[in-house]
Amino acid sequence: MPTRVLTGITTTGTPHLGNYVGAIRPCVIASRRTDVESFFFLADYHALIKCDDPARIERSRLELAATWLAAGLDPTRVTLYRQSDIPEIPELTWLLTCVTAKGQMNRAHAYKAAADANLAAGEDVDAGITMGLFSYPILMAADILMFNAHQIPVGRDQIQHIEMARDVAQRFNHLYGKGTDFFVLPEAVVEAEMALLPGLDGRKMSKSYDNTIPLFEGGAKALKDAIARIVTDSKLPGEPKDPEGSALVTLHDAFGTPEQNTAFRAALRDGLGWGDAKQRLFDLINGELAPMRARYEALINQPAELEAILMAGAAKARAEAAPLLQRLREAVGLRRMVAAPVAAASKDKADKAALAVFKQYREADGQFYFKLAAADGRVLLQSQAFAGGRDAGNWVKRLKTEGAAALGEAPVALGDGVAAEEVAQALAELIAAAAE
Ligand code: TRP
Repeated sequence: MPTRVLTGITTTGTPHLGNYVGAIRPCVIASRRTDVESFFFLADYHALIKCDDPARIERSRLELAATWLAAGLDPTRVTLYRQSDIPEIPELTWLLTCVTAKGQMNRAHAYKAAADANLAAGEDVDAGITMGLFSYPILMAADILMFNAHQIPVGRDQIQHIEMARDVAQRFNHLYGKGTDFFVLPEAVVEAEMALLPGLDGRKMSKSYDNTIPLFEGGAKALKDAIARIVTDSKLPGEPKDPEGSALVTLHDAFGTPEQNTAFRAALRDGLGWGDAKQRLFDLINGELAPMRARYEALINQPAELEAILMAGAAKARAEAAPLLQRLREAVGLRRMVAAPVAAASKDKADKAALAVFKQYREADGQFYFKLAAADGRVLLQSQAFAGGRDAGNWVKRLKTEGAAALGEAPVALGDGVAAEEVAQALAELIAAAAE
C-alpha cells in the first residue's frame, strides 16, 4: 500500500515565499512520487476559528488553490479539496469530540497560551476564547483520521496536534474497534528546511513579523520591490562582504544550484555591491516563479475552472470518507432500526442496482462510443466517437478510477439537463463501490 501523505493549509492569508520554499514546493515534489498518495486540502473550517472576515476567507481560498495548482500540483494525481466540501469531516469531529478528554484539550498550546495570557492580564481564564479555538485539535484530528493518513508534513508548532490525533485515534480504536483498528496512527513529518527562510529583516519570514516577500500577488514588481527592502549592512560596492549570515545568501541558497550558490558567495567576498546582488537574487527567484505566475494569474481570473477542480477533488475525497464514516456510525450504534434486507448477497445486489453504469457500444457508422447511464436510465455522460474500441475503453477506465478529476480532459458531454455535480457524485459512488 502506498504511503498516504496529508496536509492542510489554513485559508486566512496570502502565500509568501517562505510558504513556497518551506511547504508548497517540497509537497509538490513529494506528490510526484509513485509510492506516495497525497491529500492536500484548504483548511477553511479552521480558518473560521481565526478570522471572522468573510471577504478575507473567500479571497484566501482562491489564492491558495491557485497557488498550489500553479506551483505544479497535478489534481489528477493527488486529492485536492476544500475541508468544508466534505461534510463527513465535521461529522467525524463530533464522534471524536465524544471520546476526547477535556483535560487534554486544556493542555493544547494554542488554547493554553490564550488562557495564560488572560490570567497574566488578570482577566477571566477563558475571556475571548471560543469553543472553536478550544476544539481546534479535534477538528484537525478528524481531517487526518478521515483519510487514514500515515504522514503529516507540518511545521514544528503542529507536532502536538498530531500527537493528540494519535491519542484520539487510539482511544476510538480501543473503545469501538473490537480488535480491528478503524484508524491508522498518523506521524508528523517536520522538514528540516521548513520555516527557515529569512524575511526582509533577517528574522524568520512570517506574516506575524510583517517581513514577508510575496509569492505571486503583485507580480514581478512586488517581488522586486520586496527584495530591494531586504536589510543588509552598509558596505559599499567593491568592499568585500561576509556572505554568512546574510539574508540574501540564505534566500539565494533556497533557489540556486550548488554552483550558483558558491558563485554568489564568491562574488560577495570579491566586493559585489548589494544592489547588484539583489538584482541577481531577483533574476534567480523570478526565473523559477515567472512561468508559475502566469498560470496563477490565469487561474485567479478563471474561478470557474478552479471551482470545477475543487469539486472534482471533493468527490474523490468523499468517495474515501463516506464508506469509513458509515462504518464508524455503525460502530458507535448509530444504525438503521430495521436490519438491512437479509443476506449480504442480496444487499450487494440492491447496492449495485442503484449505481450508474458505463455502456460501451459501436454504432452503424463503425465508430466506438460509451455512455454513463444513471440507475433510472437517464444518460449522464455521452462520449464522442472513437476510431478504436480500446480508446473508448481507456477513457472508461480512467473515469472509473480517477472519477470527476478526469472529466476535464475526457472527450465527453453531459447528458441533457444533467449537472456536472450529479456526474461527479455518480463516479464517486462507482469508485467507492469498487473499493469495497
Ligand atoms: N493547523 C494546521 C496549521 O495551522 C492546518 C491544518 C488543519 C492541518 N488541519 C490539518 C495540517 C491537518 C495538517 C493536517 O498549519
